[in-house]
Amino acid sequence: MKKIDIRDYLTANFIGRSIEYHETITSTNIRAKEIAREADEGTVVIAEEQTMGKGRLGRNWTSPKGKGLWFSIILKPKVKVEEATKITLIGAAAVYKALKDMGIESYIKWPNDIVIDGKKVCGILTEMIFRDKGSYFVIIGIGINVNLDEEDFNEDLKNKATSLKLVRRSEVDRNKLFAYVLNNFEILYIPFKEKGDIREAIEISRERSILIGKEVRIIGGNREKTARVLGIDNEGQLIVKYRDGKTEALFSGEVSIRGMEGYMDNC
Ligand code: BTN
Repeated sequence: MKKIDIRDYLTANFIGRSIEYHETITSTNIRAKEIAREADEGTVVIAEEQTMGKGRLGRNWTSPKGKGLWFSIILKPKVKVEEATKITLIGAAAVYKALKDMGIESYIKWPNDIVIDGKKVCGILTEMIFRDKGSYFVIIGIGINVNLDEEDFNEDLKNKATSLKLVRRSEVDRNKLFAYVLNNFEILYIPFKEKGDIREAIEISRERSILIGKEVRIIGGNREKTARVLGIDNEGQLIVKYRDGKTEALFSGEVSIRGMEGYMDNC
């Protein structure tokens, strides 16, 4: 297994300029939280394998050795904390653009999944660490199923998830893809960090949305509701219309969105 080496491809100035590499780790998000205080902004923790990879809403994230990109970026934006949750959209747009740079077309399932052929190839988990006097750090954890084989997915995942290798029918260069994600992330993140400007990421999330116009199930807390997705507003919220005619703007943290039968089966 070749160790990750992105020197030939990295053009970003601060995202990925410092990388902490692990063969095996519990979770890169956990490690990034441990070192966030001392680390420079843009420091990345990456691991060949995670033994306790974390997904959203308390789920596990399957992270087999040497087959994916499992990494976390440490960020220290100065914007209001409510704004910082939008960083997930920057991550999704950056992964979409990086895949496009590699010649791979994909879609975005708001707010944090990248989807190809109706199946998930990438998930993003954004977490925050609060410090005294209201300051905070952000950890954006990105998991990309790059060269996973059929047998890496359990029965449950097989219907919902796939890898780039499985859709392309050939291995994908992890070094190139990793660098392209970091390069694109920095380009999208700088206007946000400096001015809270997230327009380009939202534009990409709209253009490549797999949800807009679709009927979906919205699962949050103990309730499940059916709604039609109308769009994504300028704040990055998902606008949905319920069957009773009411509309609502959903924040990314609070819900899980599914197709009518399964992950994104009807899309
Ligand atoms: C999801 O779709 O539920 C989010 C998945 C996020 C997975 C990544 S892999 C790198 C980072 N470390 C973790 O433990 N989780 C994130």
